[in-house]
Amino acid sequence: MERLKTKRALITGGAQGIGFAIAETFSREGAVVYVADVNSDLGLSAAANLNKSGADATFVSLDVGDDANWKQVVEQVTAELGGLDILVNNAGINIRKVIEDMSSEELDQMYHVNIKGPFLGIKHVLPVMKKIGGGSIINMSSVCGLIGHRYTPEAYTTAKGALTTLTKAIASRYGKFNIRCNSINPSTADTPMVQQMLKDPQWKKERLGEVPLGRMAGLHDIAAAALYLASDEAAFINGVALPVDGGVTAY
Ligand SMILES: NC(=O)c1ccc[n+]([C@@H]2O[C@H](COP(=O)([O-])OP(=O)(O)OC[C@H]3O[C@@H](n4cnc5c(N)ncnc54)[C@H](O)[C@@H]3O)[C@@H](O)[C@H]2O)c1
Repeated sequence: MERLKTKRALITGGAQGIGFAIAETFSREGAVVYVADVNSDLGLSAAANLNKSGADATFVSLDVGDDANWKQVVEQVTAELGGLDILVNNAGINIRKVIEDMSSEELDQMYHVNIKGPFLGIKHVLPVMKKIGGGSIINMSSVCGLIGHRYTPEAYTTAKGALTTLTKAIASRYGKFNIRCNSINPSTADTPMVQQMLKDPQWKKERLGEVPLGRMAGLHDIAAAALYLASDEAAFINGVALPVDGGVTAY
């Protein structure tokens, strides 16, 4: 049985990497999927590729840090689908500079995408979910949203930490509307975001060295967690920060 049959989902940053893996998984499980991304070329071809495999996928252009853009996208999706059951706030960036080297403009850019983005997405989707009687919001945080990871830029850890607590705040306030909000907190996964770093053998060795299960997170591992949290099987799971990290945050 398809686990997301009749569900309508919007996935930010769905054009590649983890977001695309989630879009593939949700489509396979019967959801209608909107791929929302700032990169239109990639997003259009992602939706076309999904549709080639029998999905019902649509690309929408979205800069997640732009309030007016969110308003227009949510209006479009609700007009076309009549509602939205699942929001995955997945889009993210990482400017790899430590606190001493990061400019104020770079910090703004990091927060624009990584925390203002999910904040605005939730703001615009809540009235829709209230109206249809509930929904599932999934925020793509990171292990860096749970610990002070010393190899990761502080702008990234603070944005992901804020995303973890935003998740819990939304879960607390909006649970009474049958709206669940959970975060996924993955360790390093092989996507375009980290491909440059993975070419550095020392960096790769350090990343793998901190994982008790001894490997990177697979995109399928993260997508499987998202599928569970999105589905009715997780009907009583609310406010959870779910590490998909092979045990990185267990010690
Ligand atoms: N890859 C990892 O190791 C890892 C680990 C933990 C958490 N994460 C988180 O998972 C999420 C996905 O990461 P990924 O590795 O797949 O990244 P990625 O760089 O491969 O893909 C990110 C996607 O987000 C889109 N995007 C960037 N800025 C945007 C904006 N302003 N508006 C809309 N879309 C935008 C990009 O165009 C791209 O399609 C991010 O939030 C990231 O922080 C990644």
